[in-house]
Amino acid sequence: MTAATPTPDASASPADPVAELIGSGQLVPCLDGVDRPAVELDQAASTQSLPEAAARVAEFLPWYSSVHRGAGFRSRRATAAYENARRAVLSFAGRDPDGDDVAVLCRNTTEAVNHLAYRLRLAPSDVVVTTVVEHHANLLPWGRVAERRYVECATDGTFALQDVEAALDAGPKPALLAVTGASNVTGWLPPIDAIIESAHLRGIPVAVDAAQLAPHRPLPTKADYLAFSGHKLYAPFGSGALIGPRSTFETGDPFLAGGGAVDLVGLDEVVWTAPPDREEAGSPNVIGAVALHAAIDALEAIGWERIAAHEHALADRLRQGLAAIEGVHLLGPAVDSGIETLPVAAFTIEGMHHALVAARLSAEYGIAVRHGCFCAHPYVVRLLGLGDVAVDAYRNEVLHGDHRNVPGAVRASAGLGTSGEEIDTLLAAVADLSGGLPAPVAYEQDVGTGDYFPVTDLPGWRDAALELGASCARG
Ligand SMILES: Cc1ncc(COP(=O)(O)O)c(C=O)c1O
Repeated sequence: MTAATPTPDASASPADPVAELIGSGQLVPCLDGVDRPAVELDQAASTQSLPEAAARVAEFLPWYSSVHRGAGFRSRRATAAYENARRAVLSFAGRDPDGDDVAVLCRNTTEAVNHLAYRLRLAPSDVVVTTVVEHHANLLPWGRVAERRYVECATDGTFALQDVEAALDAGPKPALLAVTGASNVTGWLPPIDAIIESAHLRGIPVAVDAAQLAPHRPLPTKADYLAFSGHKLYAPFGSGALIGPRSTFETGDPFLAGGGAVDLVGLDEVVWTAPPDREEAGSPNVIGAVALHAAIDALEAIGWERIAAHEHALADRLRQGLAAIEGVHLLGPAVDSGIETLPVAAFTIEGMHHALVAARLSAEYGIAVRHGCFCAHPYVVRLLGLGDVAVDAYRNEVLHGDHRNVPGAVRASAGLGTSGEEIDTLLAAVADLSGGLPAPVAYEQDVGTGDYFPVTDLPGWRDAALELGASCARG
């Protein structure tokens, strides 16, 4: 099973998509009755599938069987596919597949971080240094098992290496630094290699949340632990990975207890097997692993250089374009700051609720974005410059089930399949809204989610009316 190698097109510009994803050009209904090709600018949430991932799954399905559990030929083949995927994941992370690190295949980044937080067996008084930039997935699991010490950010949503060092140097000495490789809100890329080096000089291991980094840049080879998700890596088949030293998983109870993780079981005894199997009790997601492997192959065939060139061009077009629209406020590093970001931009439109902006972009233009706090409440509160009084006010409302005034922003995020024209479509739509273009129909806000929805009988919208989309409430 080999991935199709994309042939670089000499006449291609960086604004052209690097890959056609499954569903590119899919028509979606708009309120004027016109079906438009969906403009998918929500790539930071989940990416569509690379064709190579779906094709490899289809090719594998006739061979689908149990992994590590059967003597049949199919089972052997499925086991080999699964273990080959594990090796590919390790290579993708710059690890030697036969080296000291193991890849635990799991569901996603959230599961990987929770898994790690459990397995590090920290004492409640241990300190984990983390940052206010983190996604909840890299904040909440640490709060369950240890004390957290935070690296604050400046008003532009960034922090300096020295800020991390100050937190690492404060007493008591931290047991771990847990930091993101890229922000899912601003697309900012912390200086991750320098951060890791600095932590290592102090003898502190580093866990990198690579959920956003993995689809865009090579993974930091020196990170002690890495977590990422297949569904953000063009392989939406439910697989993710936690990578770390074998020694972390060699002793102690695994995160999940059950079949496949043991050497011996008596009614009062269990002998856990060696990692990574020790960490993967239960039947694994072999389809997800096969898809992840194929996506990794396809990304490697495209090459990071081409991916980065494409995404730099998109990031500039997106961020500069938004910043130039009157009434639009771009969150995060200023466009003229020279600070590099992924093709991700969070913004607000003066006088318009973020949920209404997102609803109108979808219903009137066929543009998919996300709104709310993007599972990074502390970060968004800082980026919006909200004080305690404002936070207390909406907090109180949320506690009473009313999410209408939850603050937030709109996020547009691009990837391999995004074209420069799609960014321009967004910019024109945002300019319309910011310029006060009246809505063709009324929009109603749902109290329980804060989402807006067009009041219409149009098929598609009417049928989907109960399935509210992006929600600030669930961030
Ligand atoms: C930076 C970051 N970390 C963690 C996560 C959680 O990923 P998942 O939902 O795949 O577990 C996300 C998802 O948006 C993210 O952007």
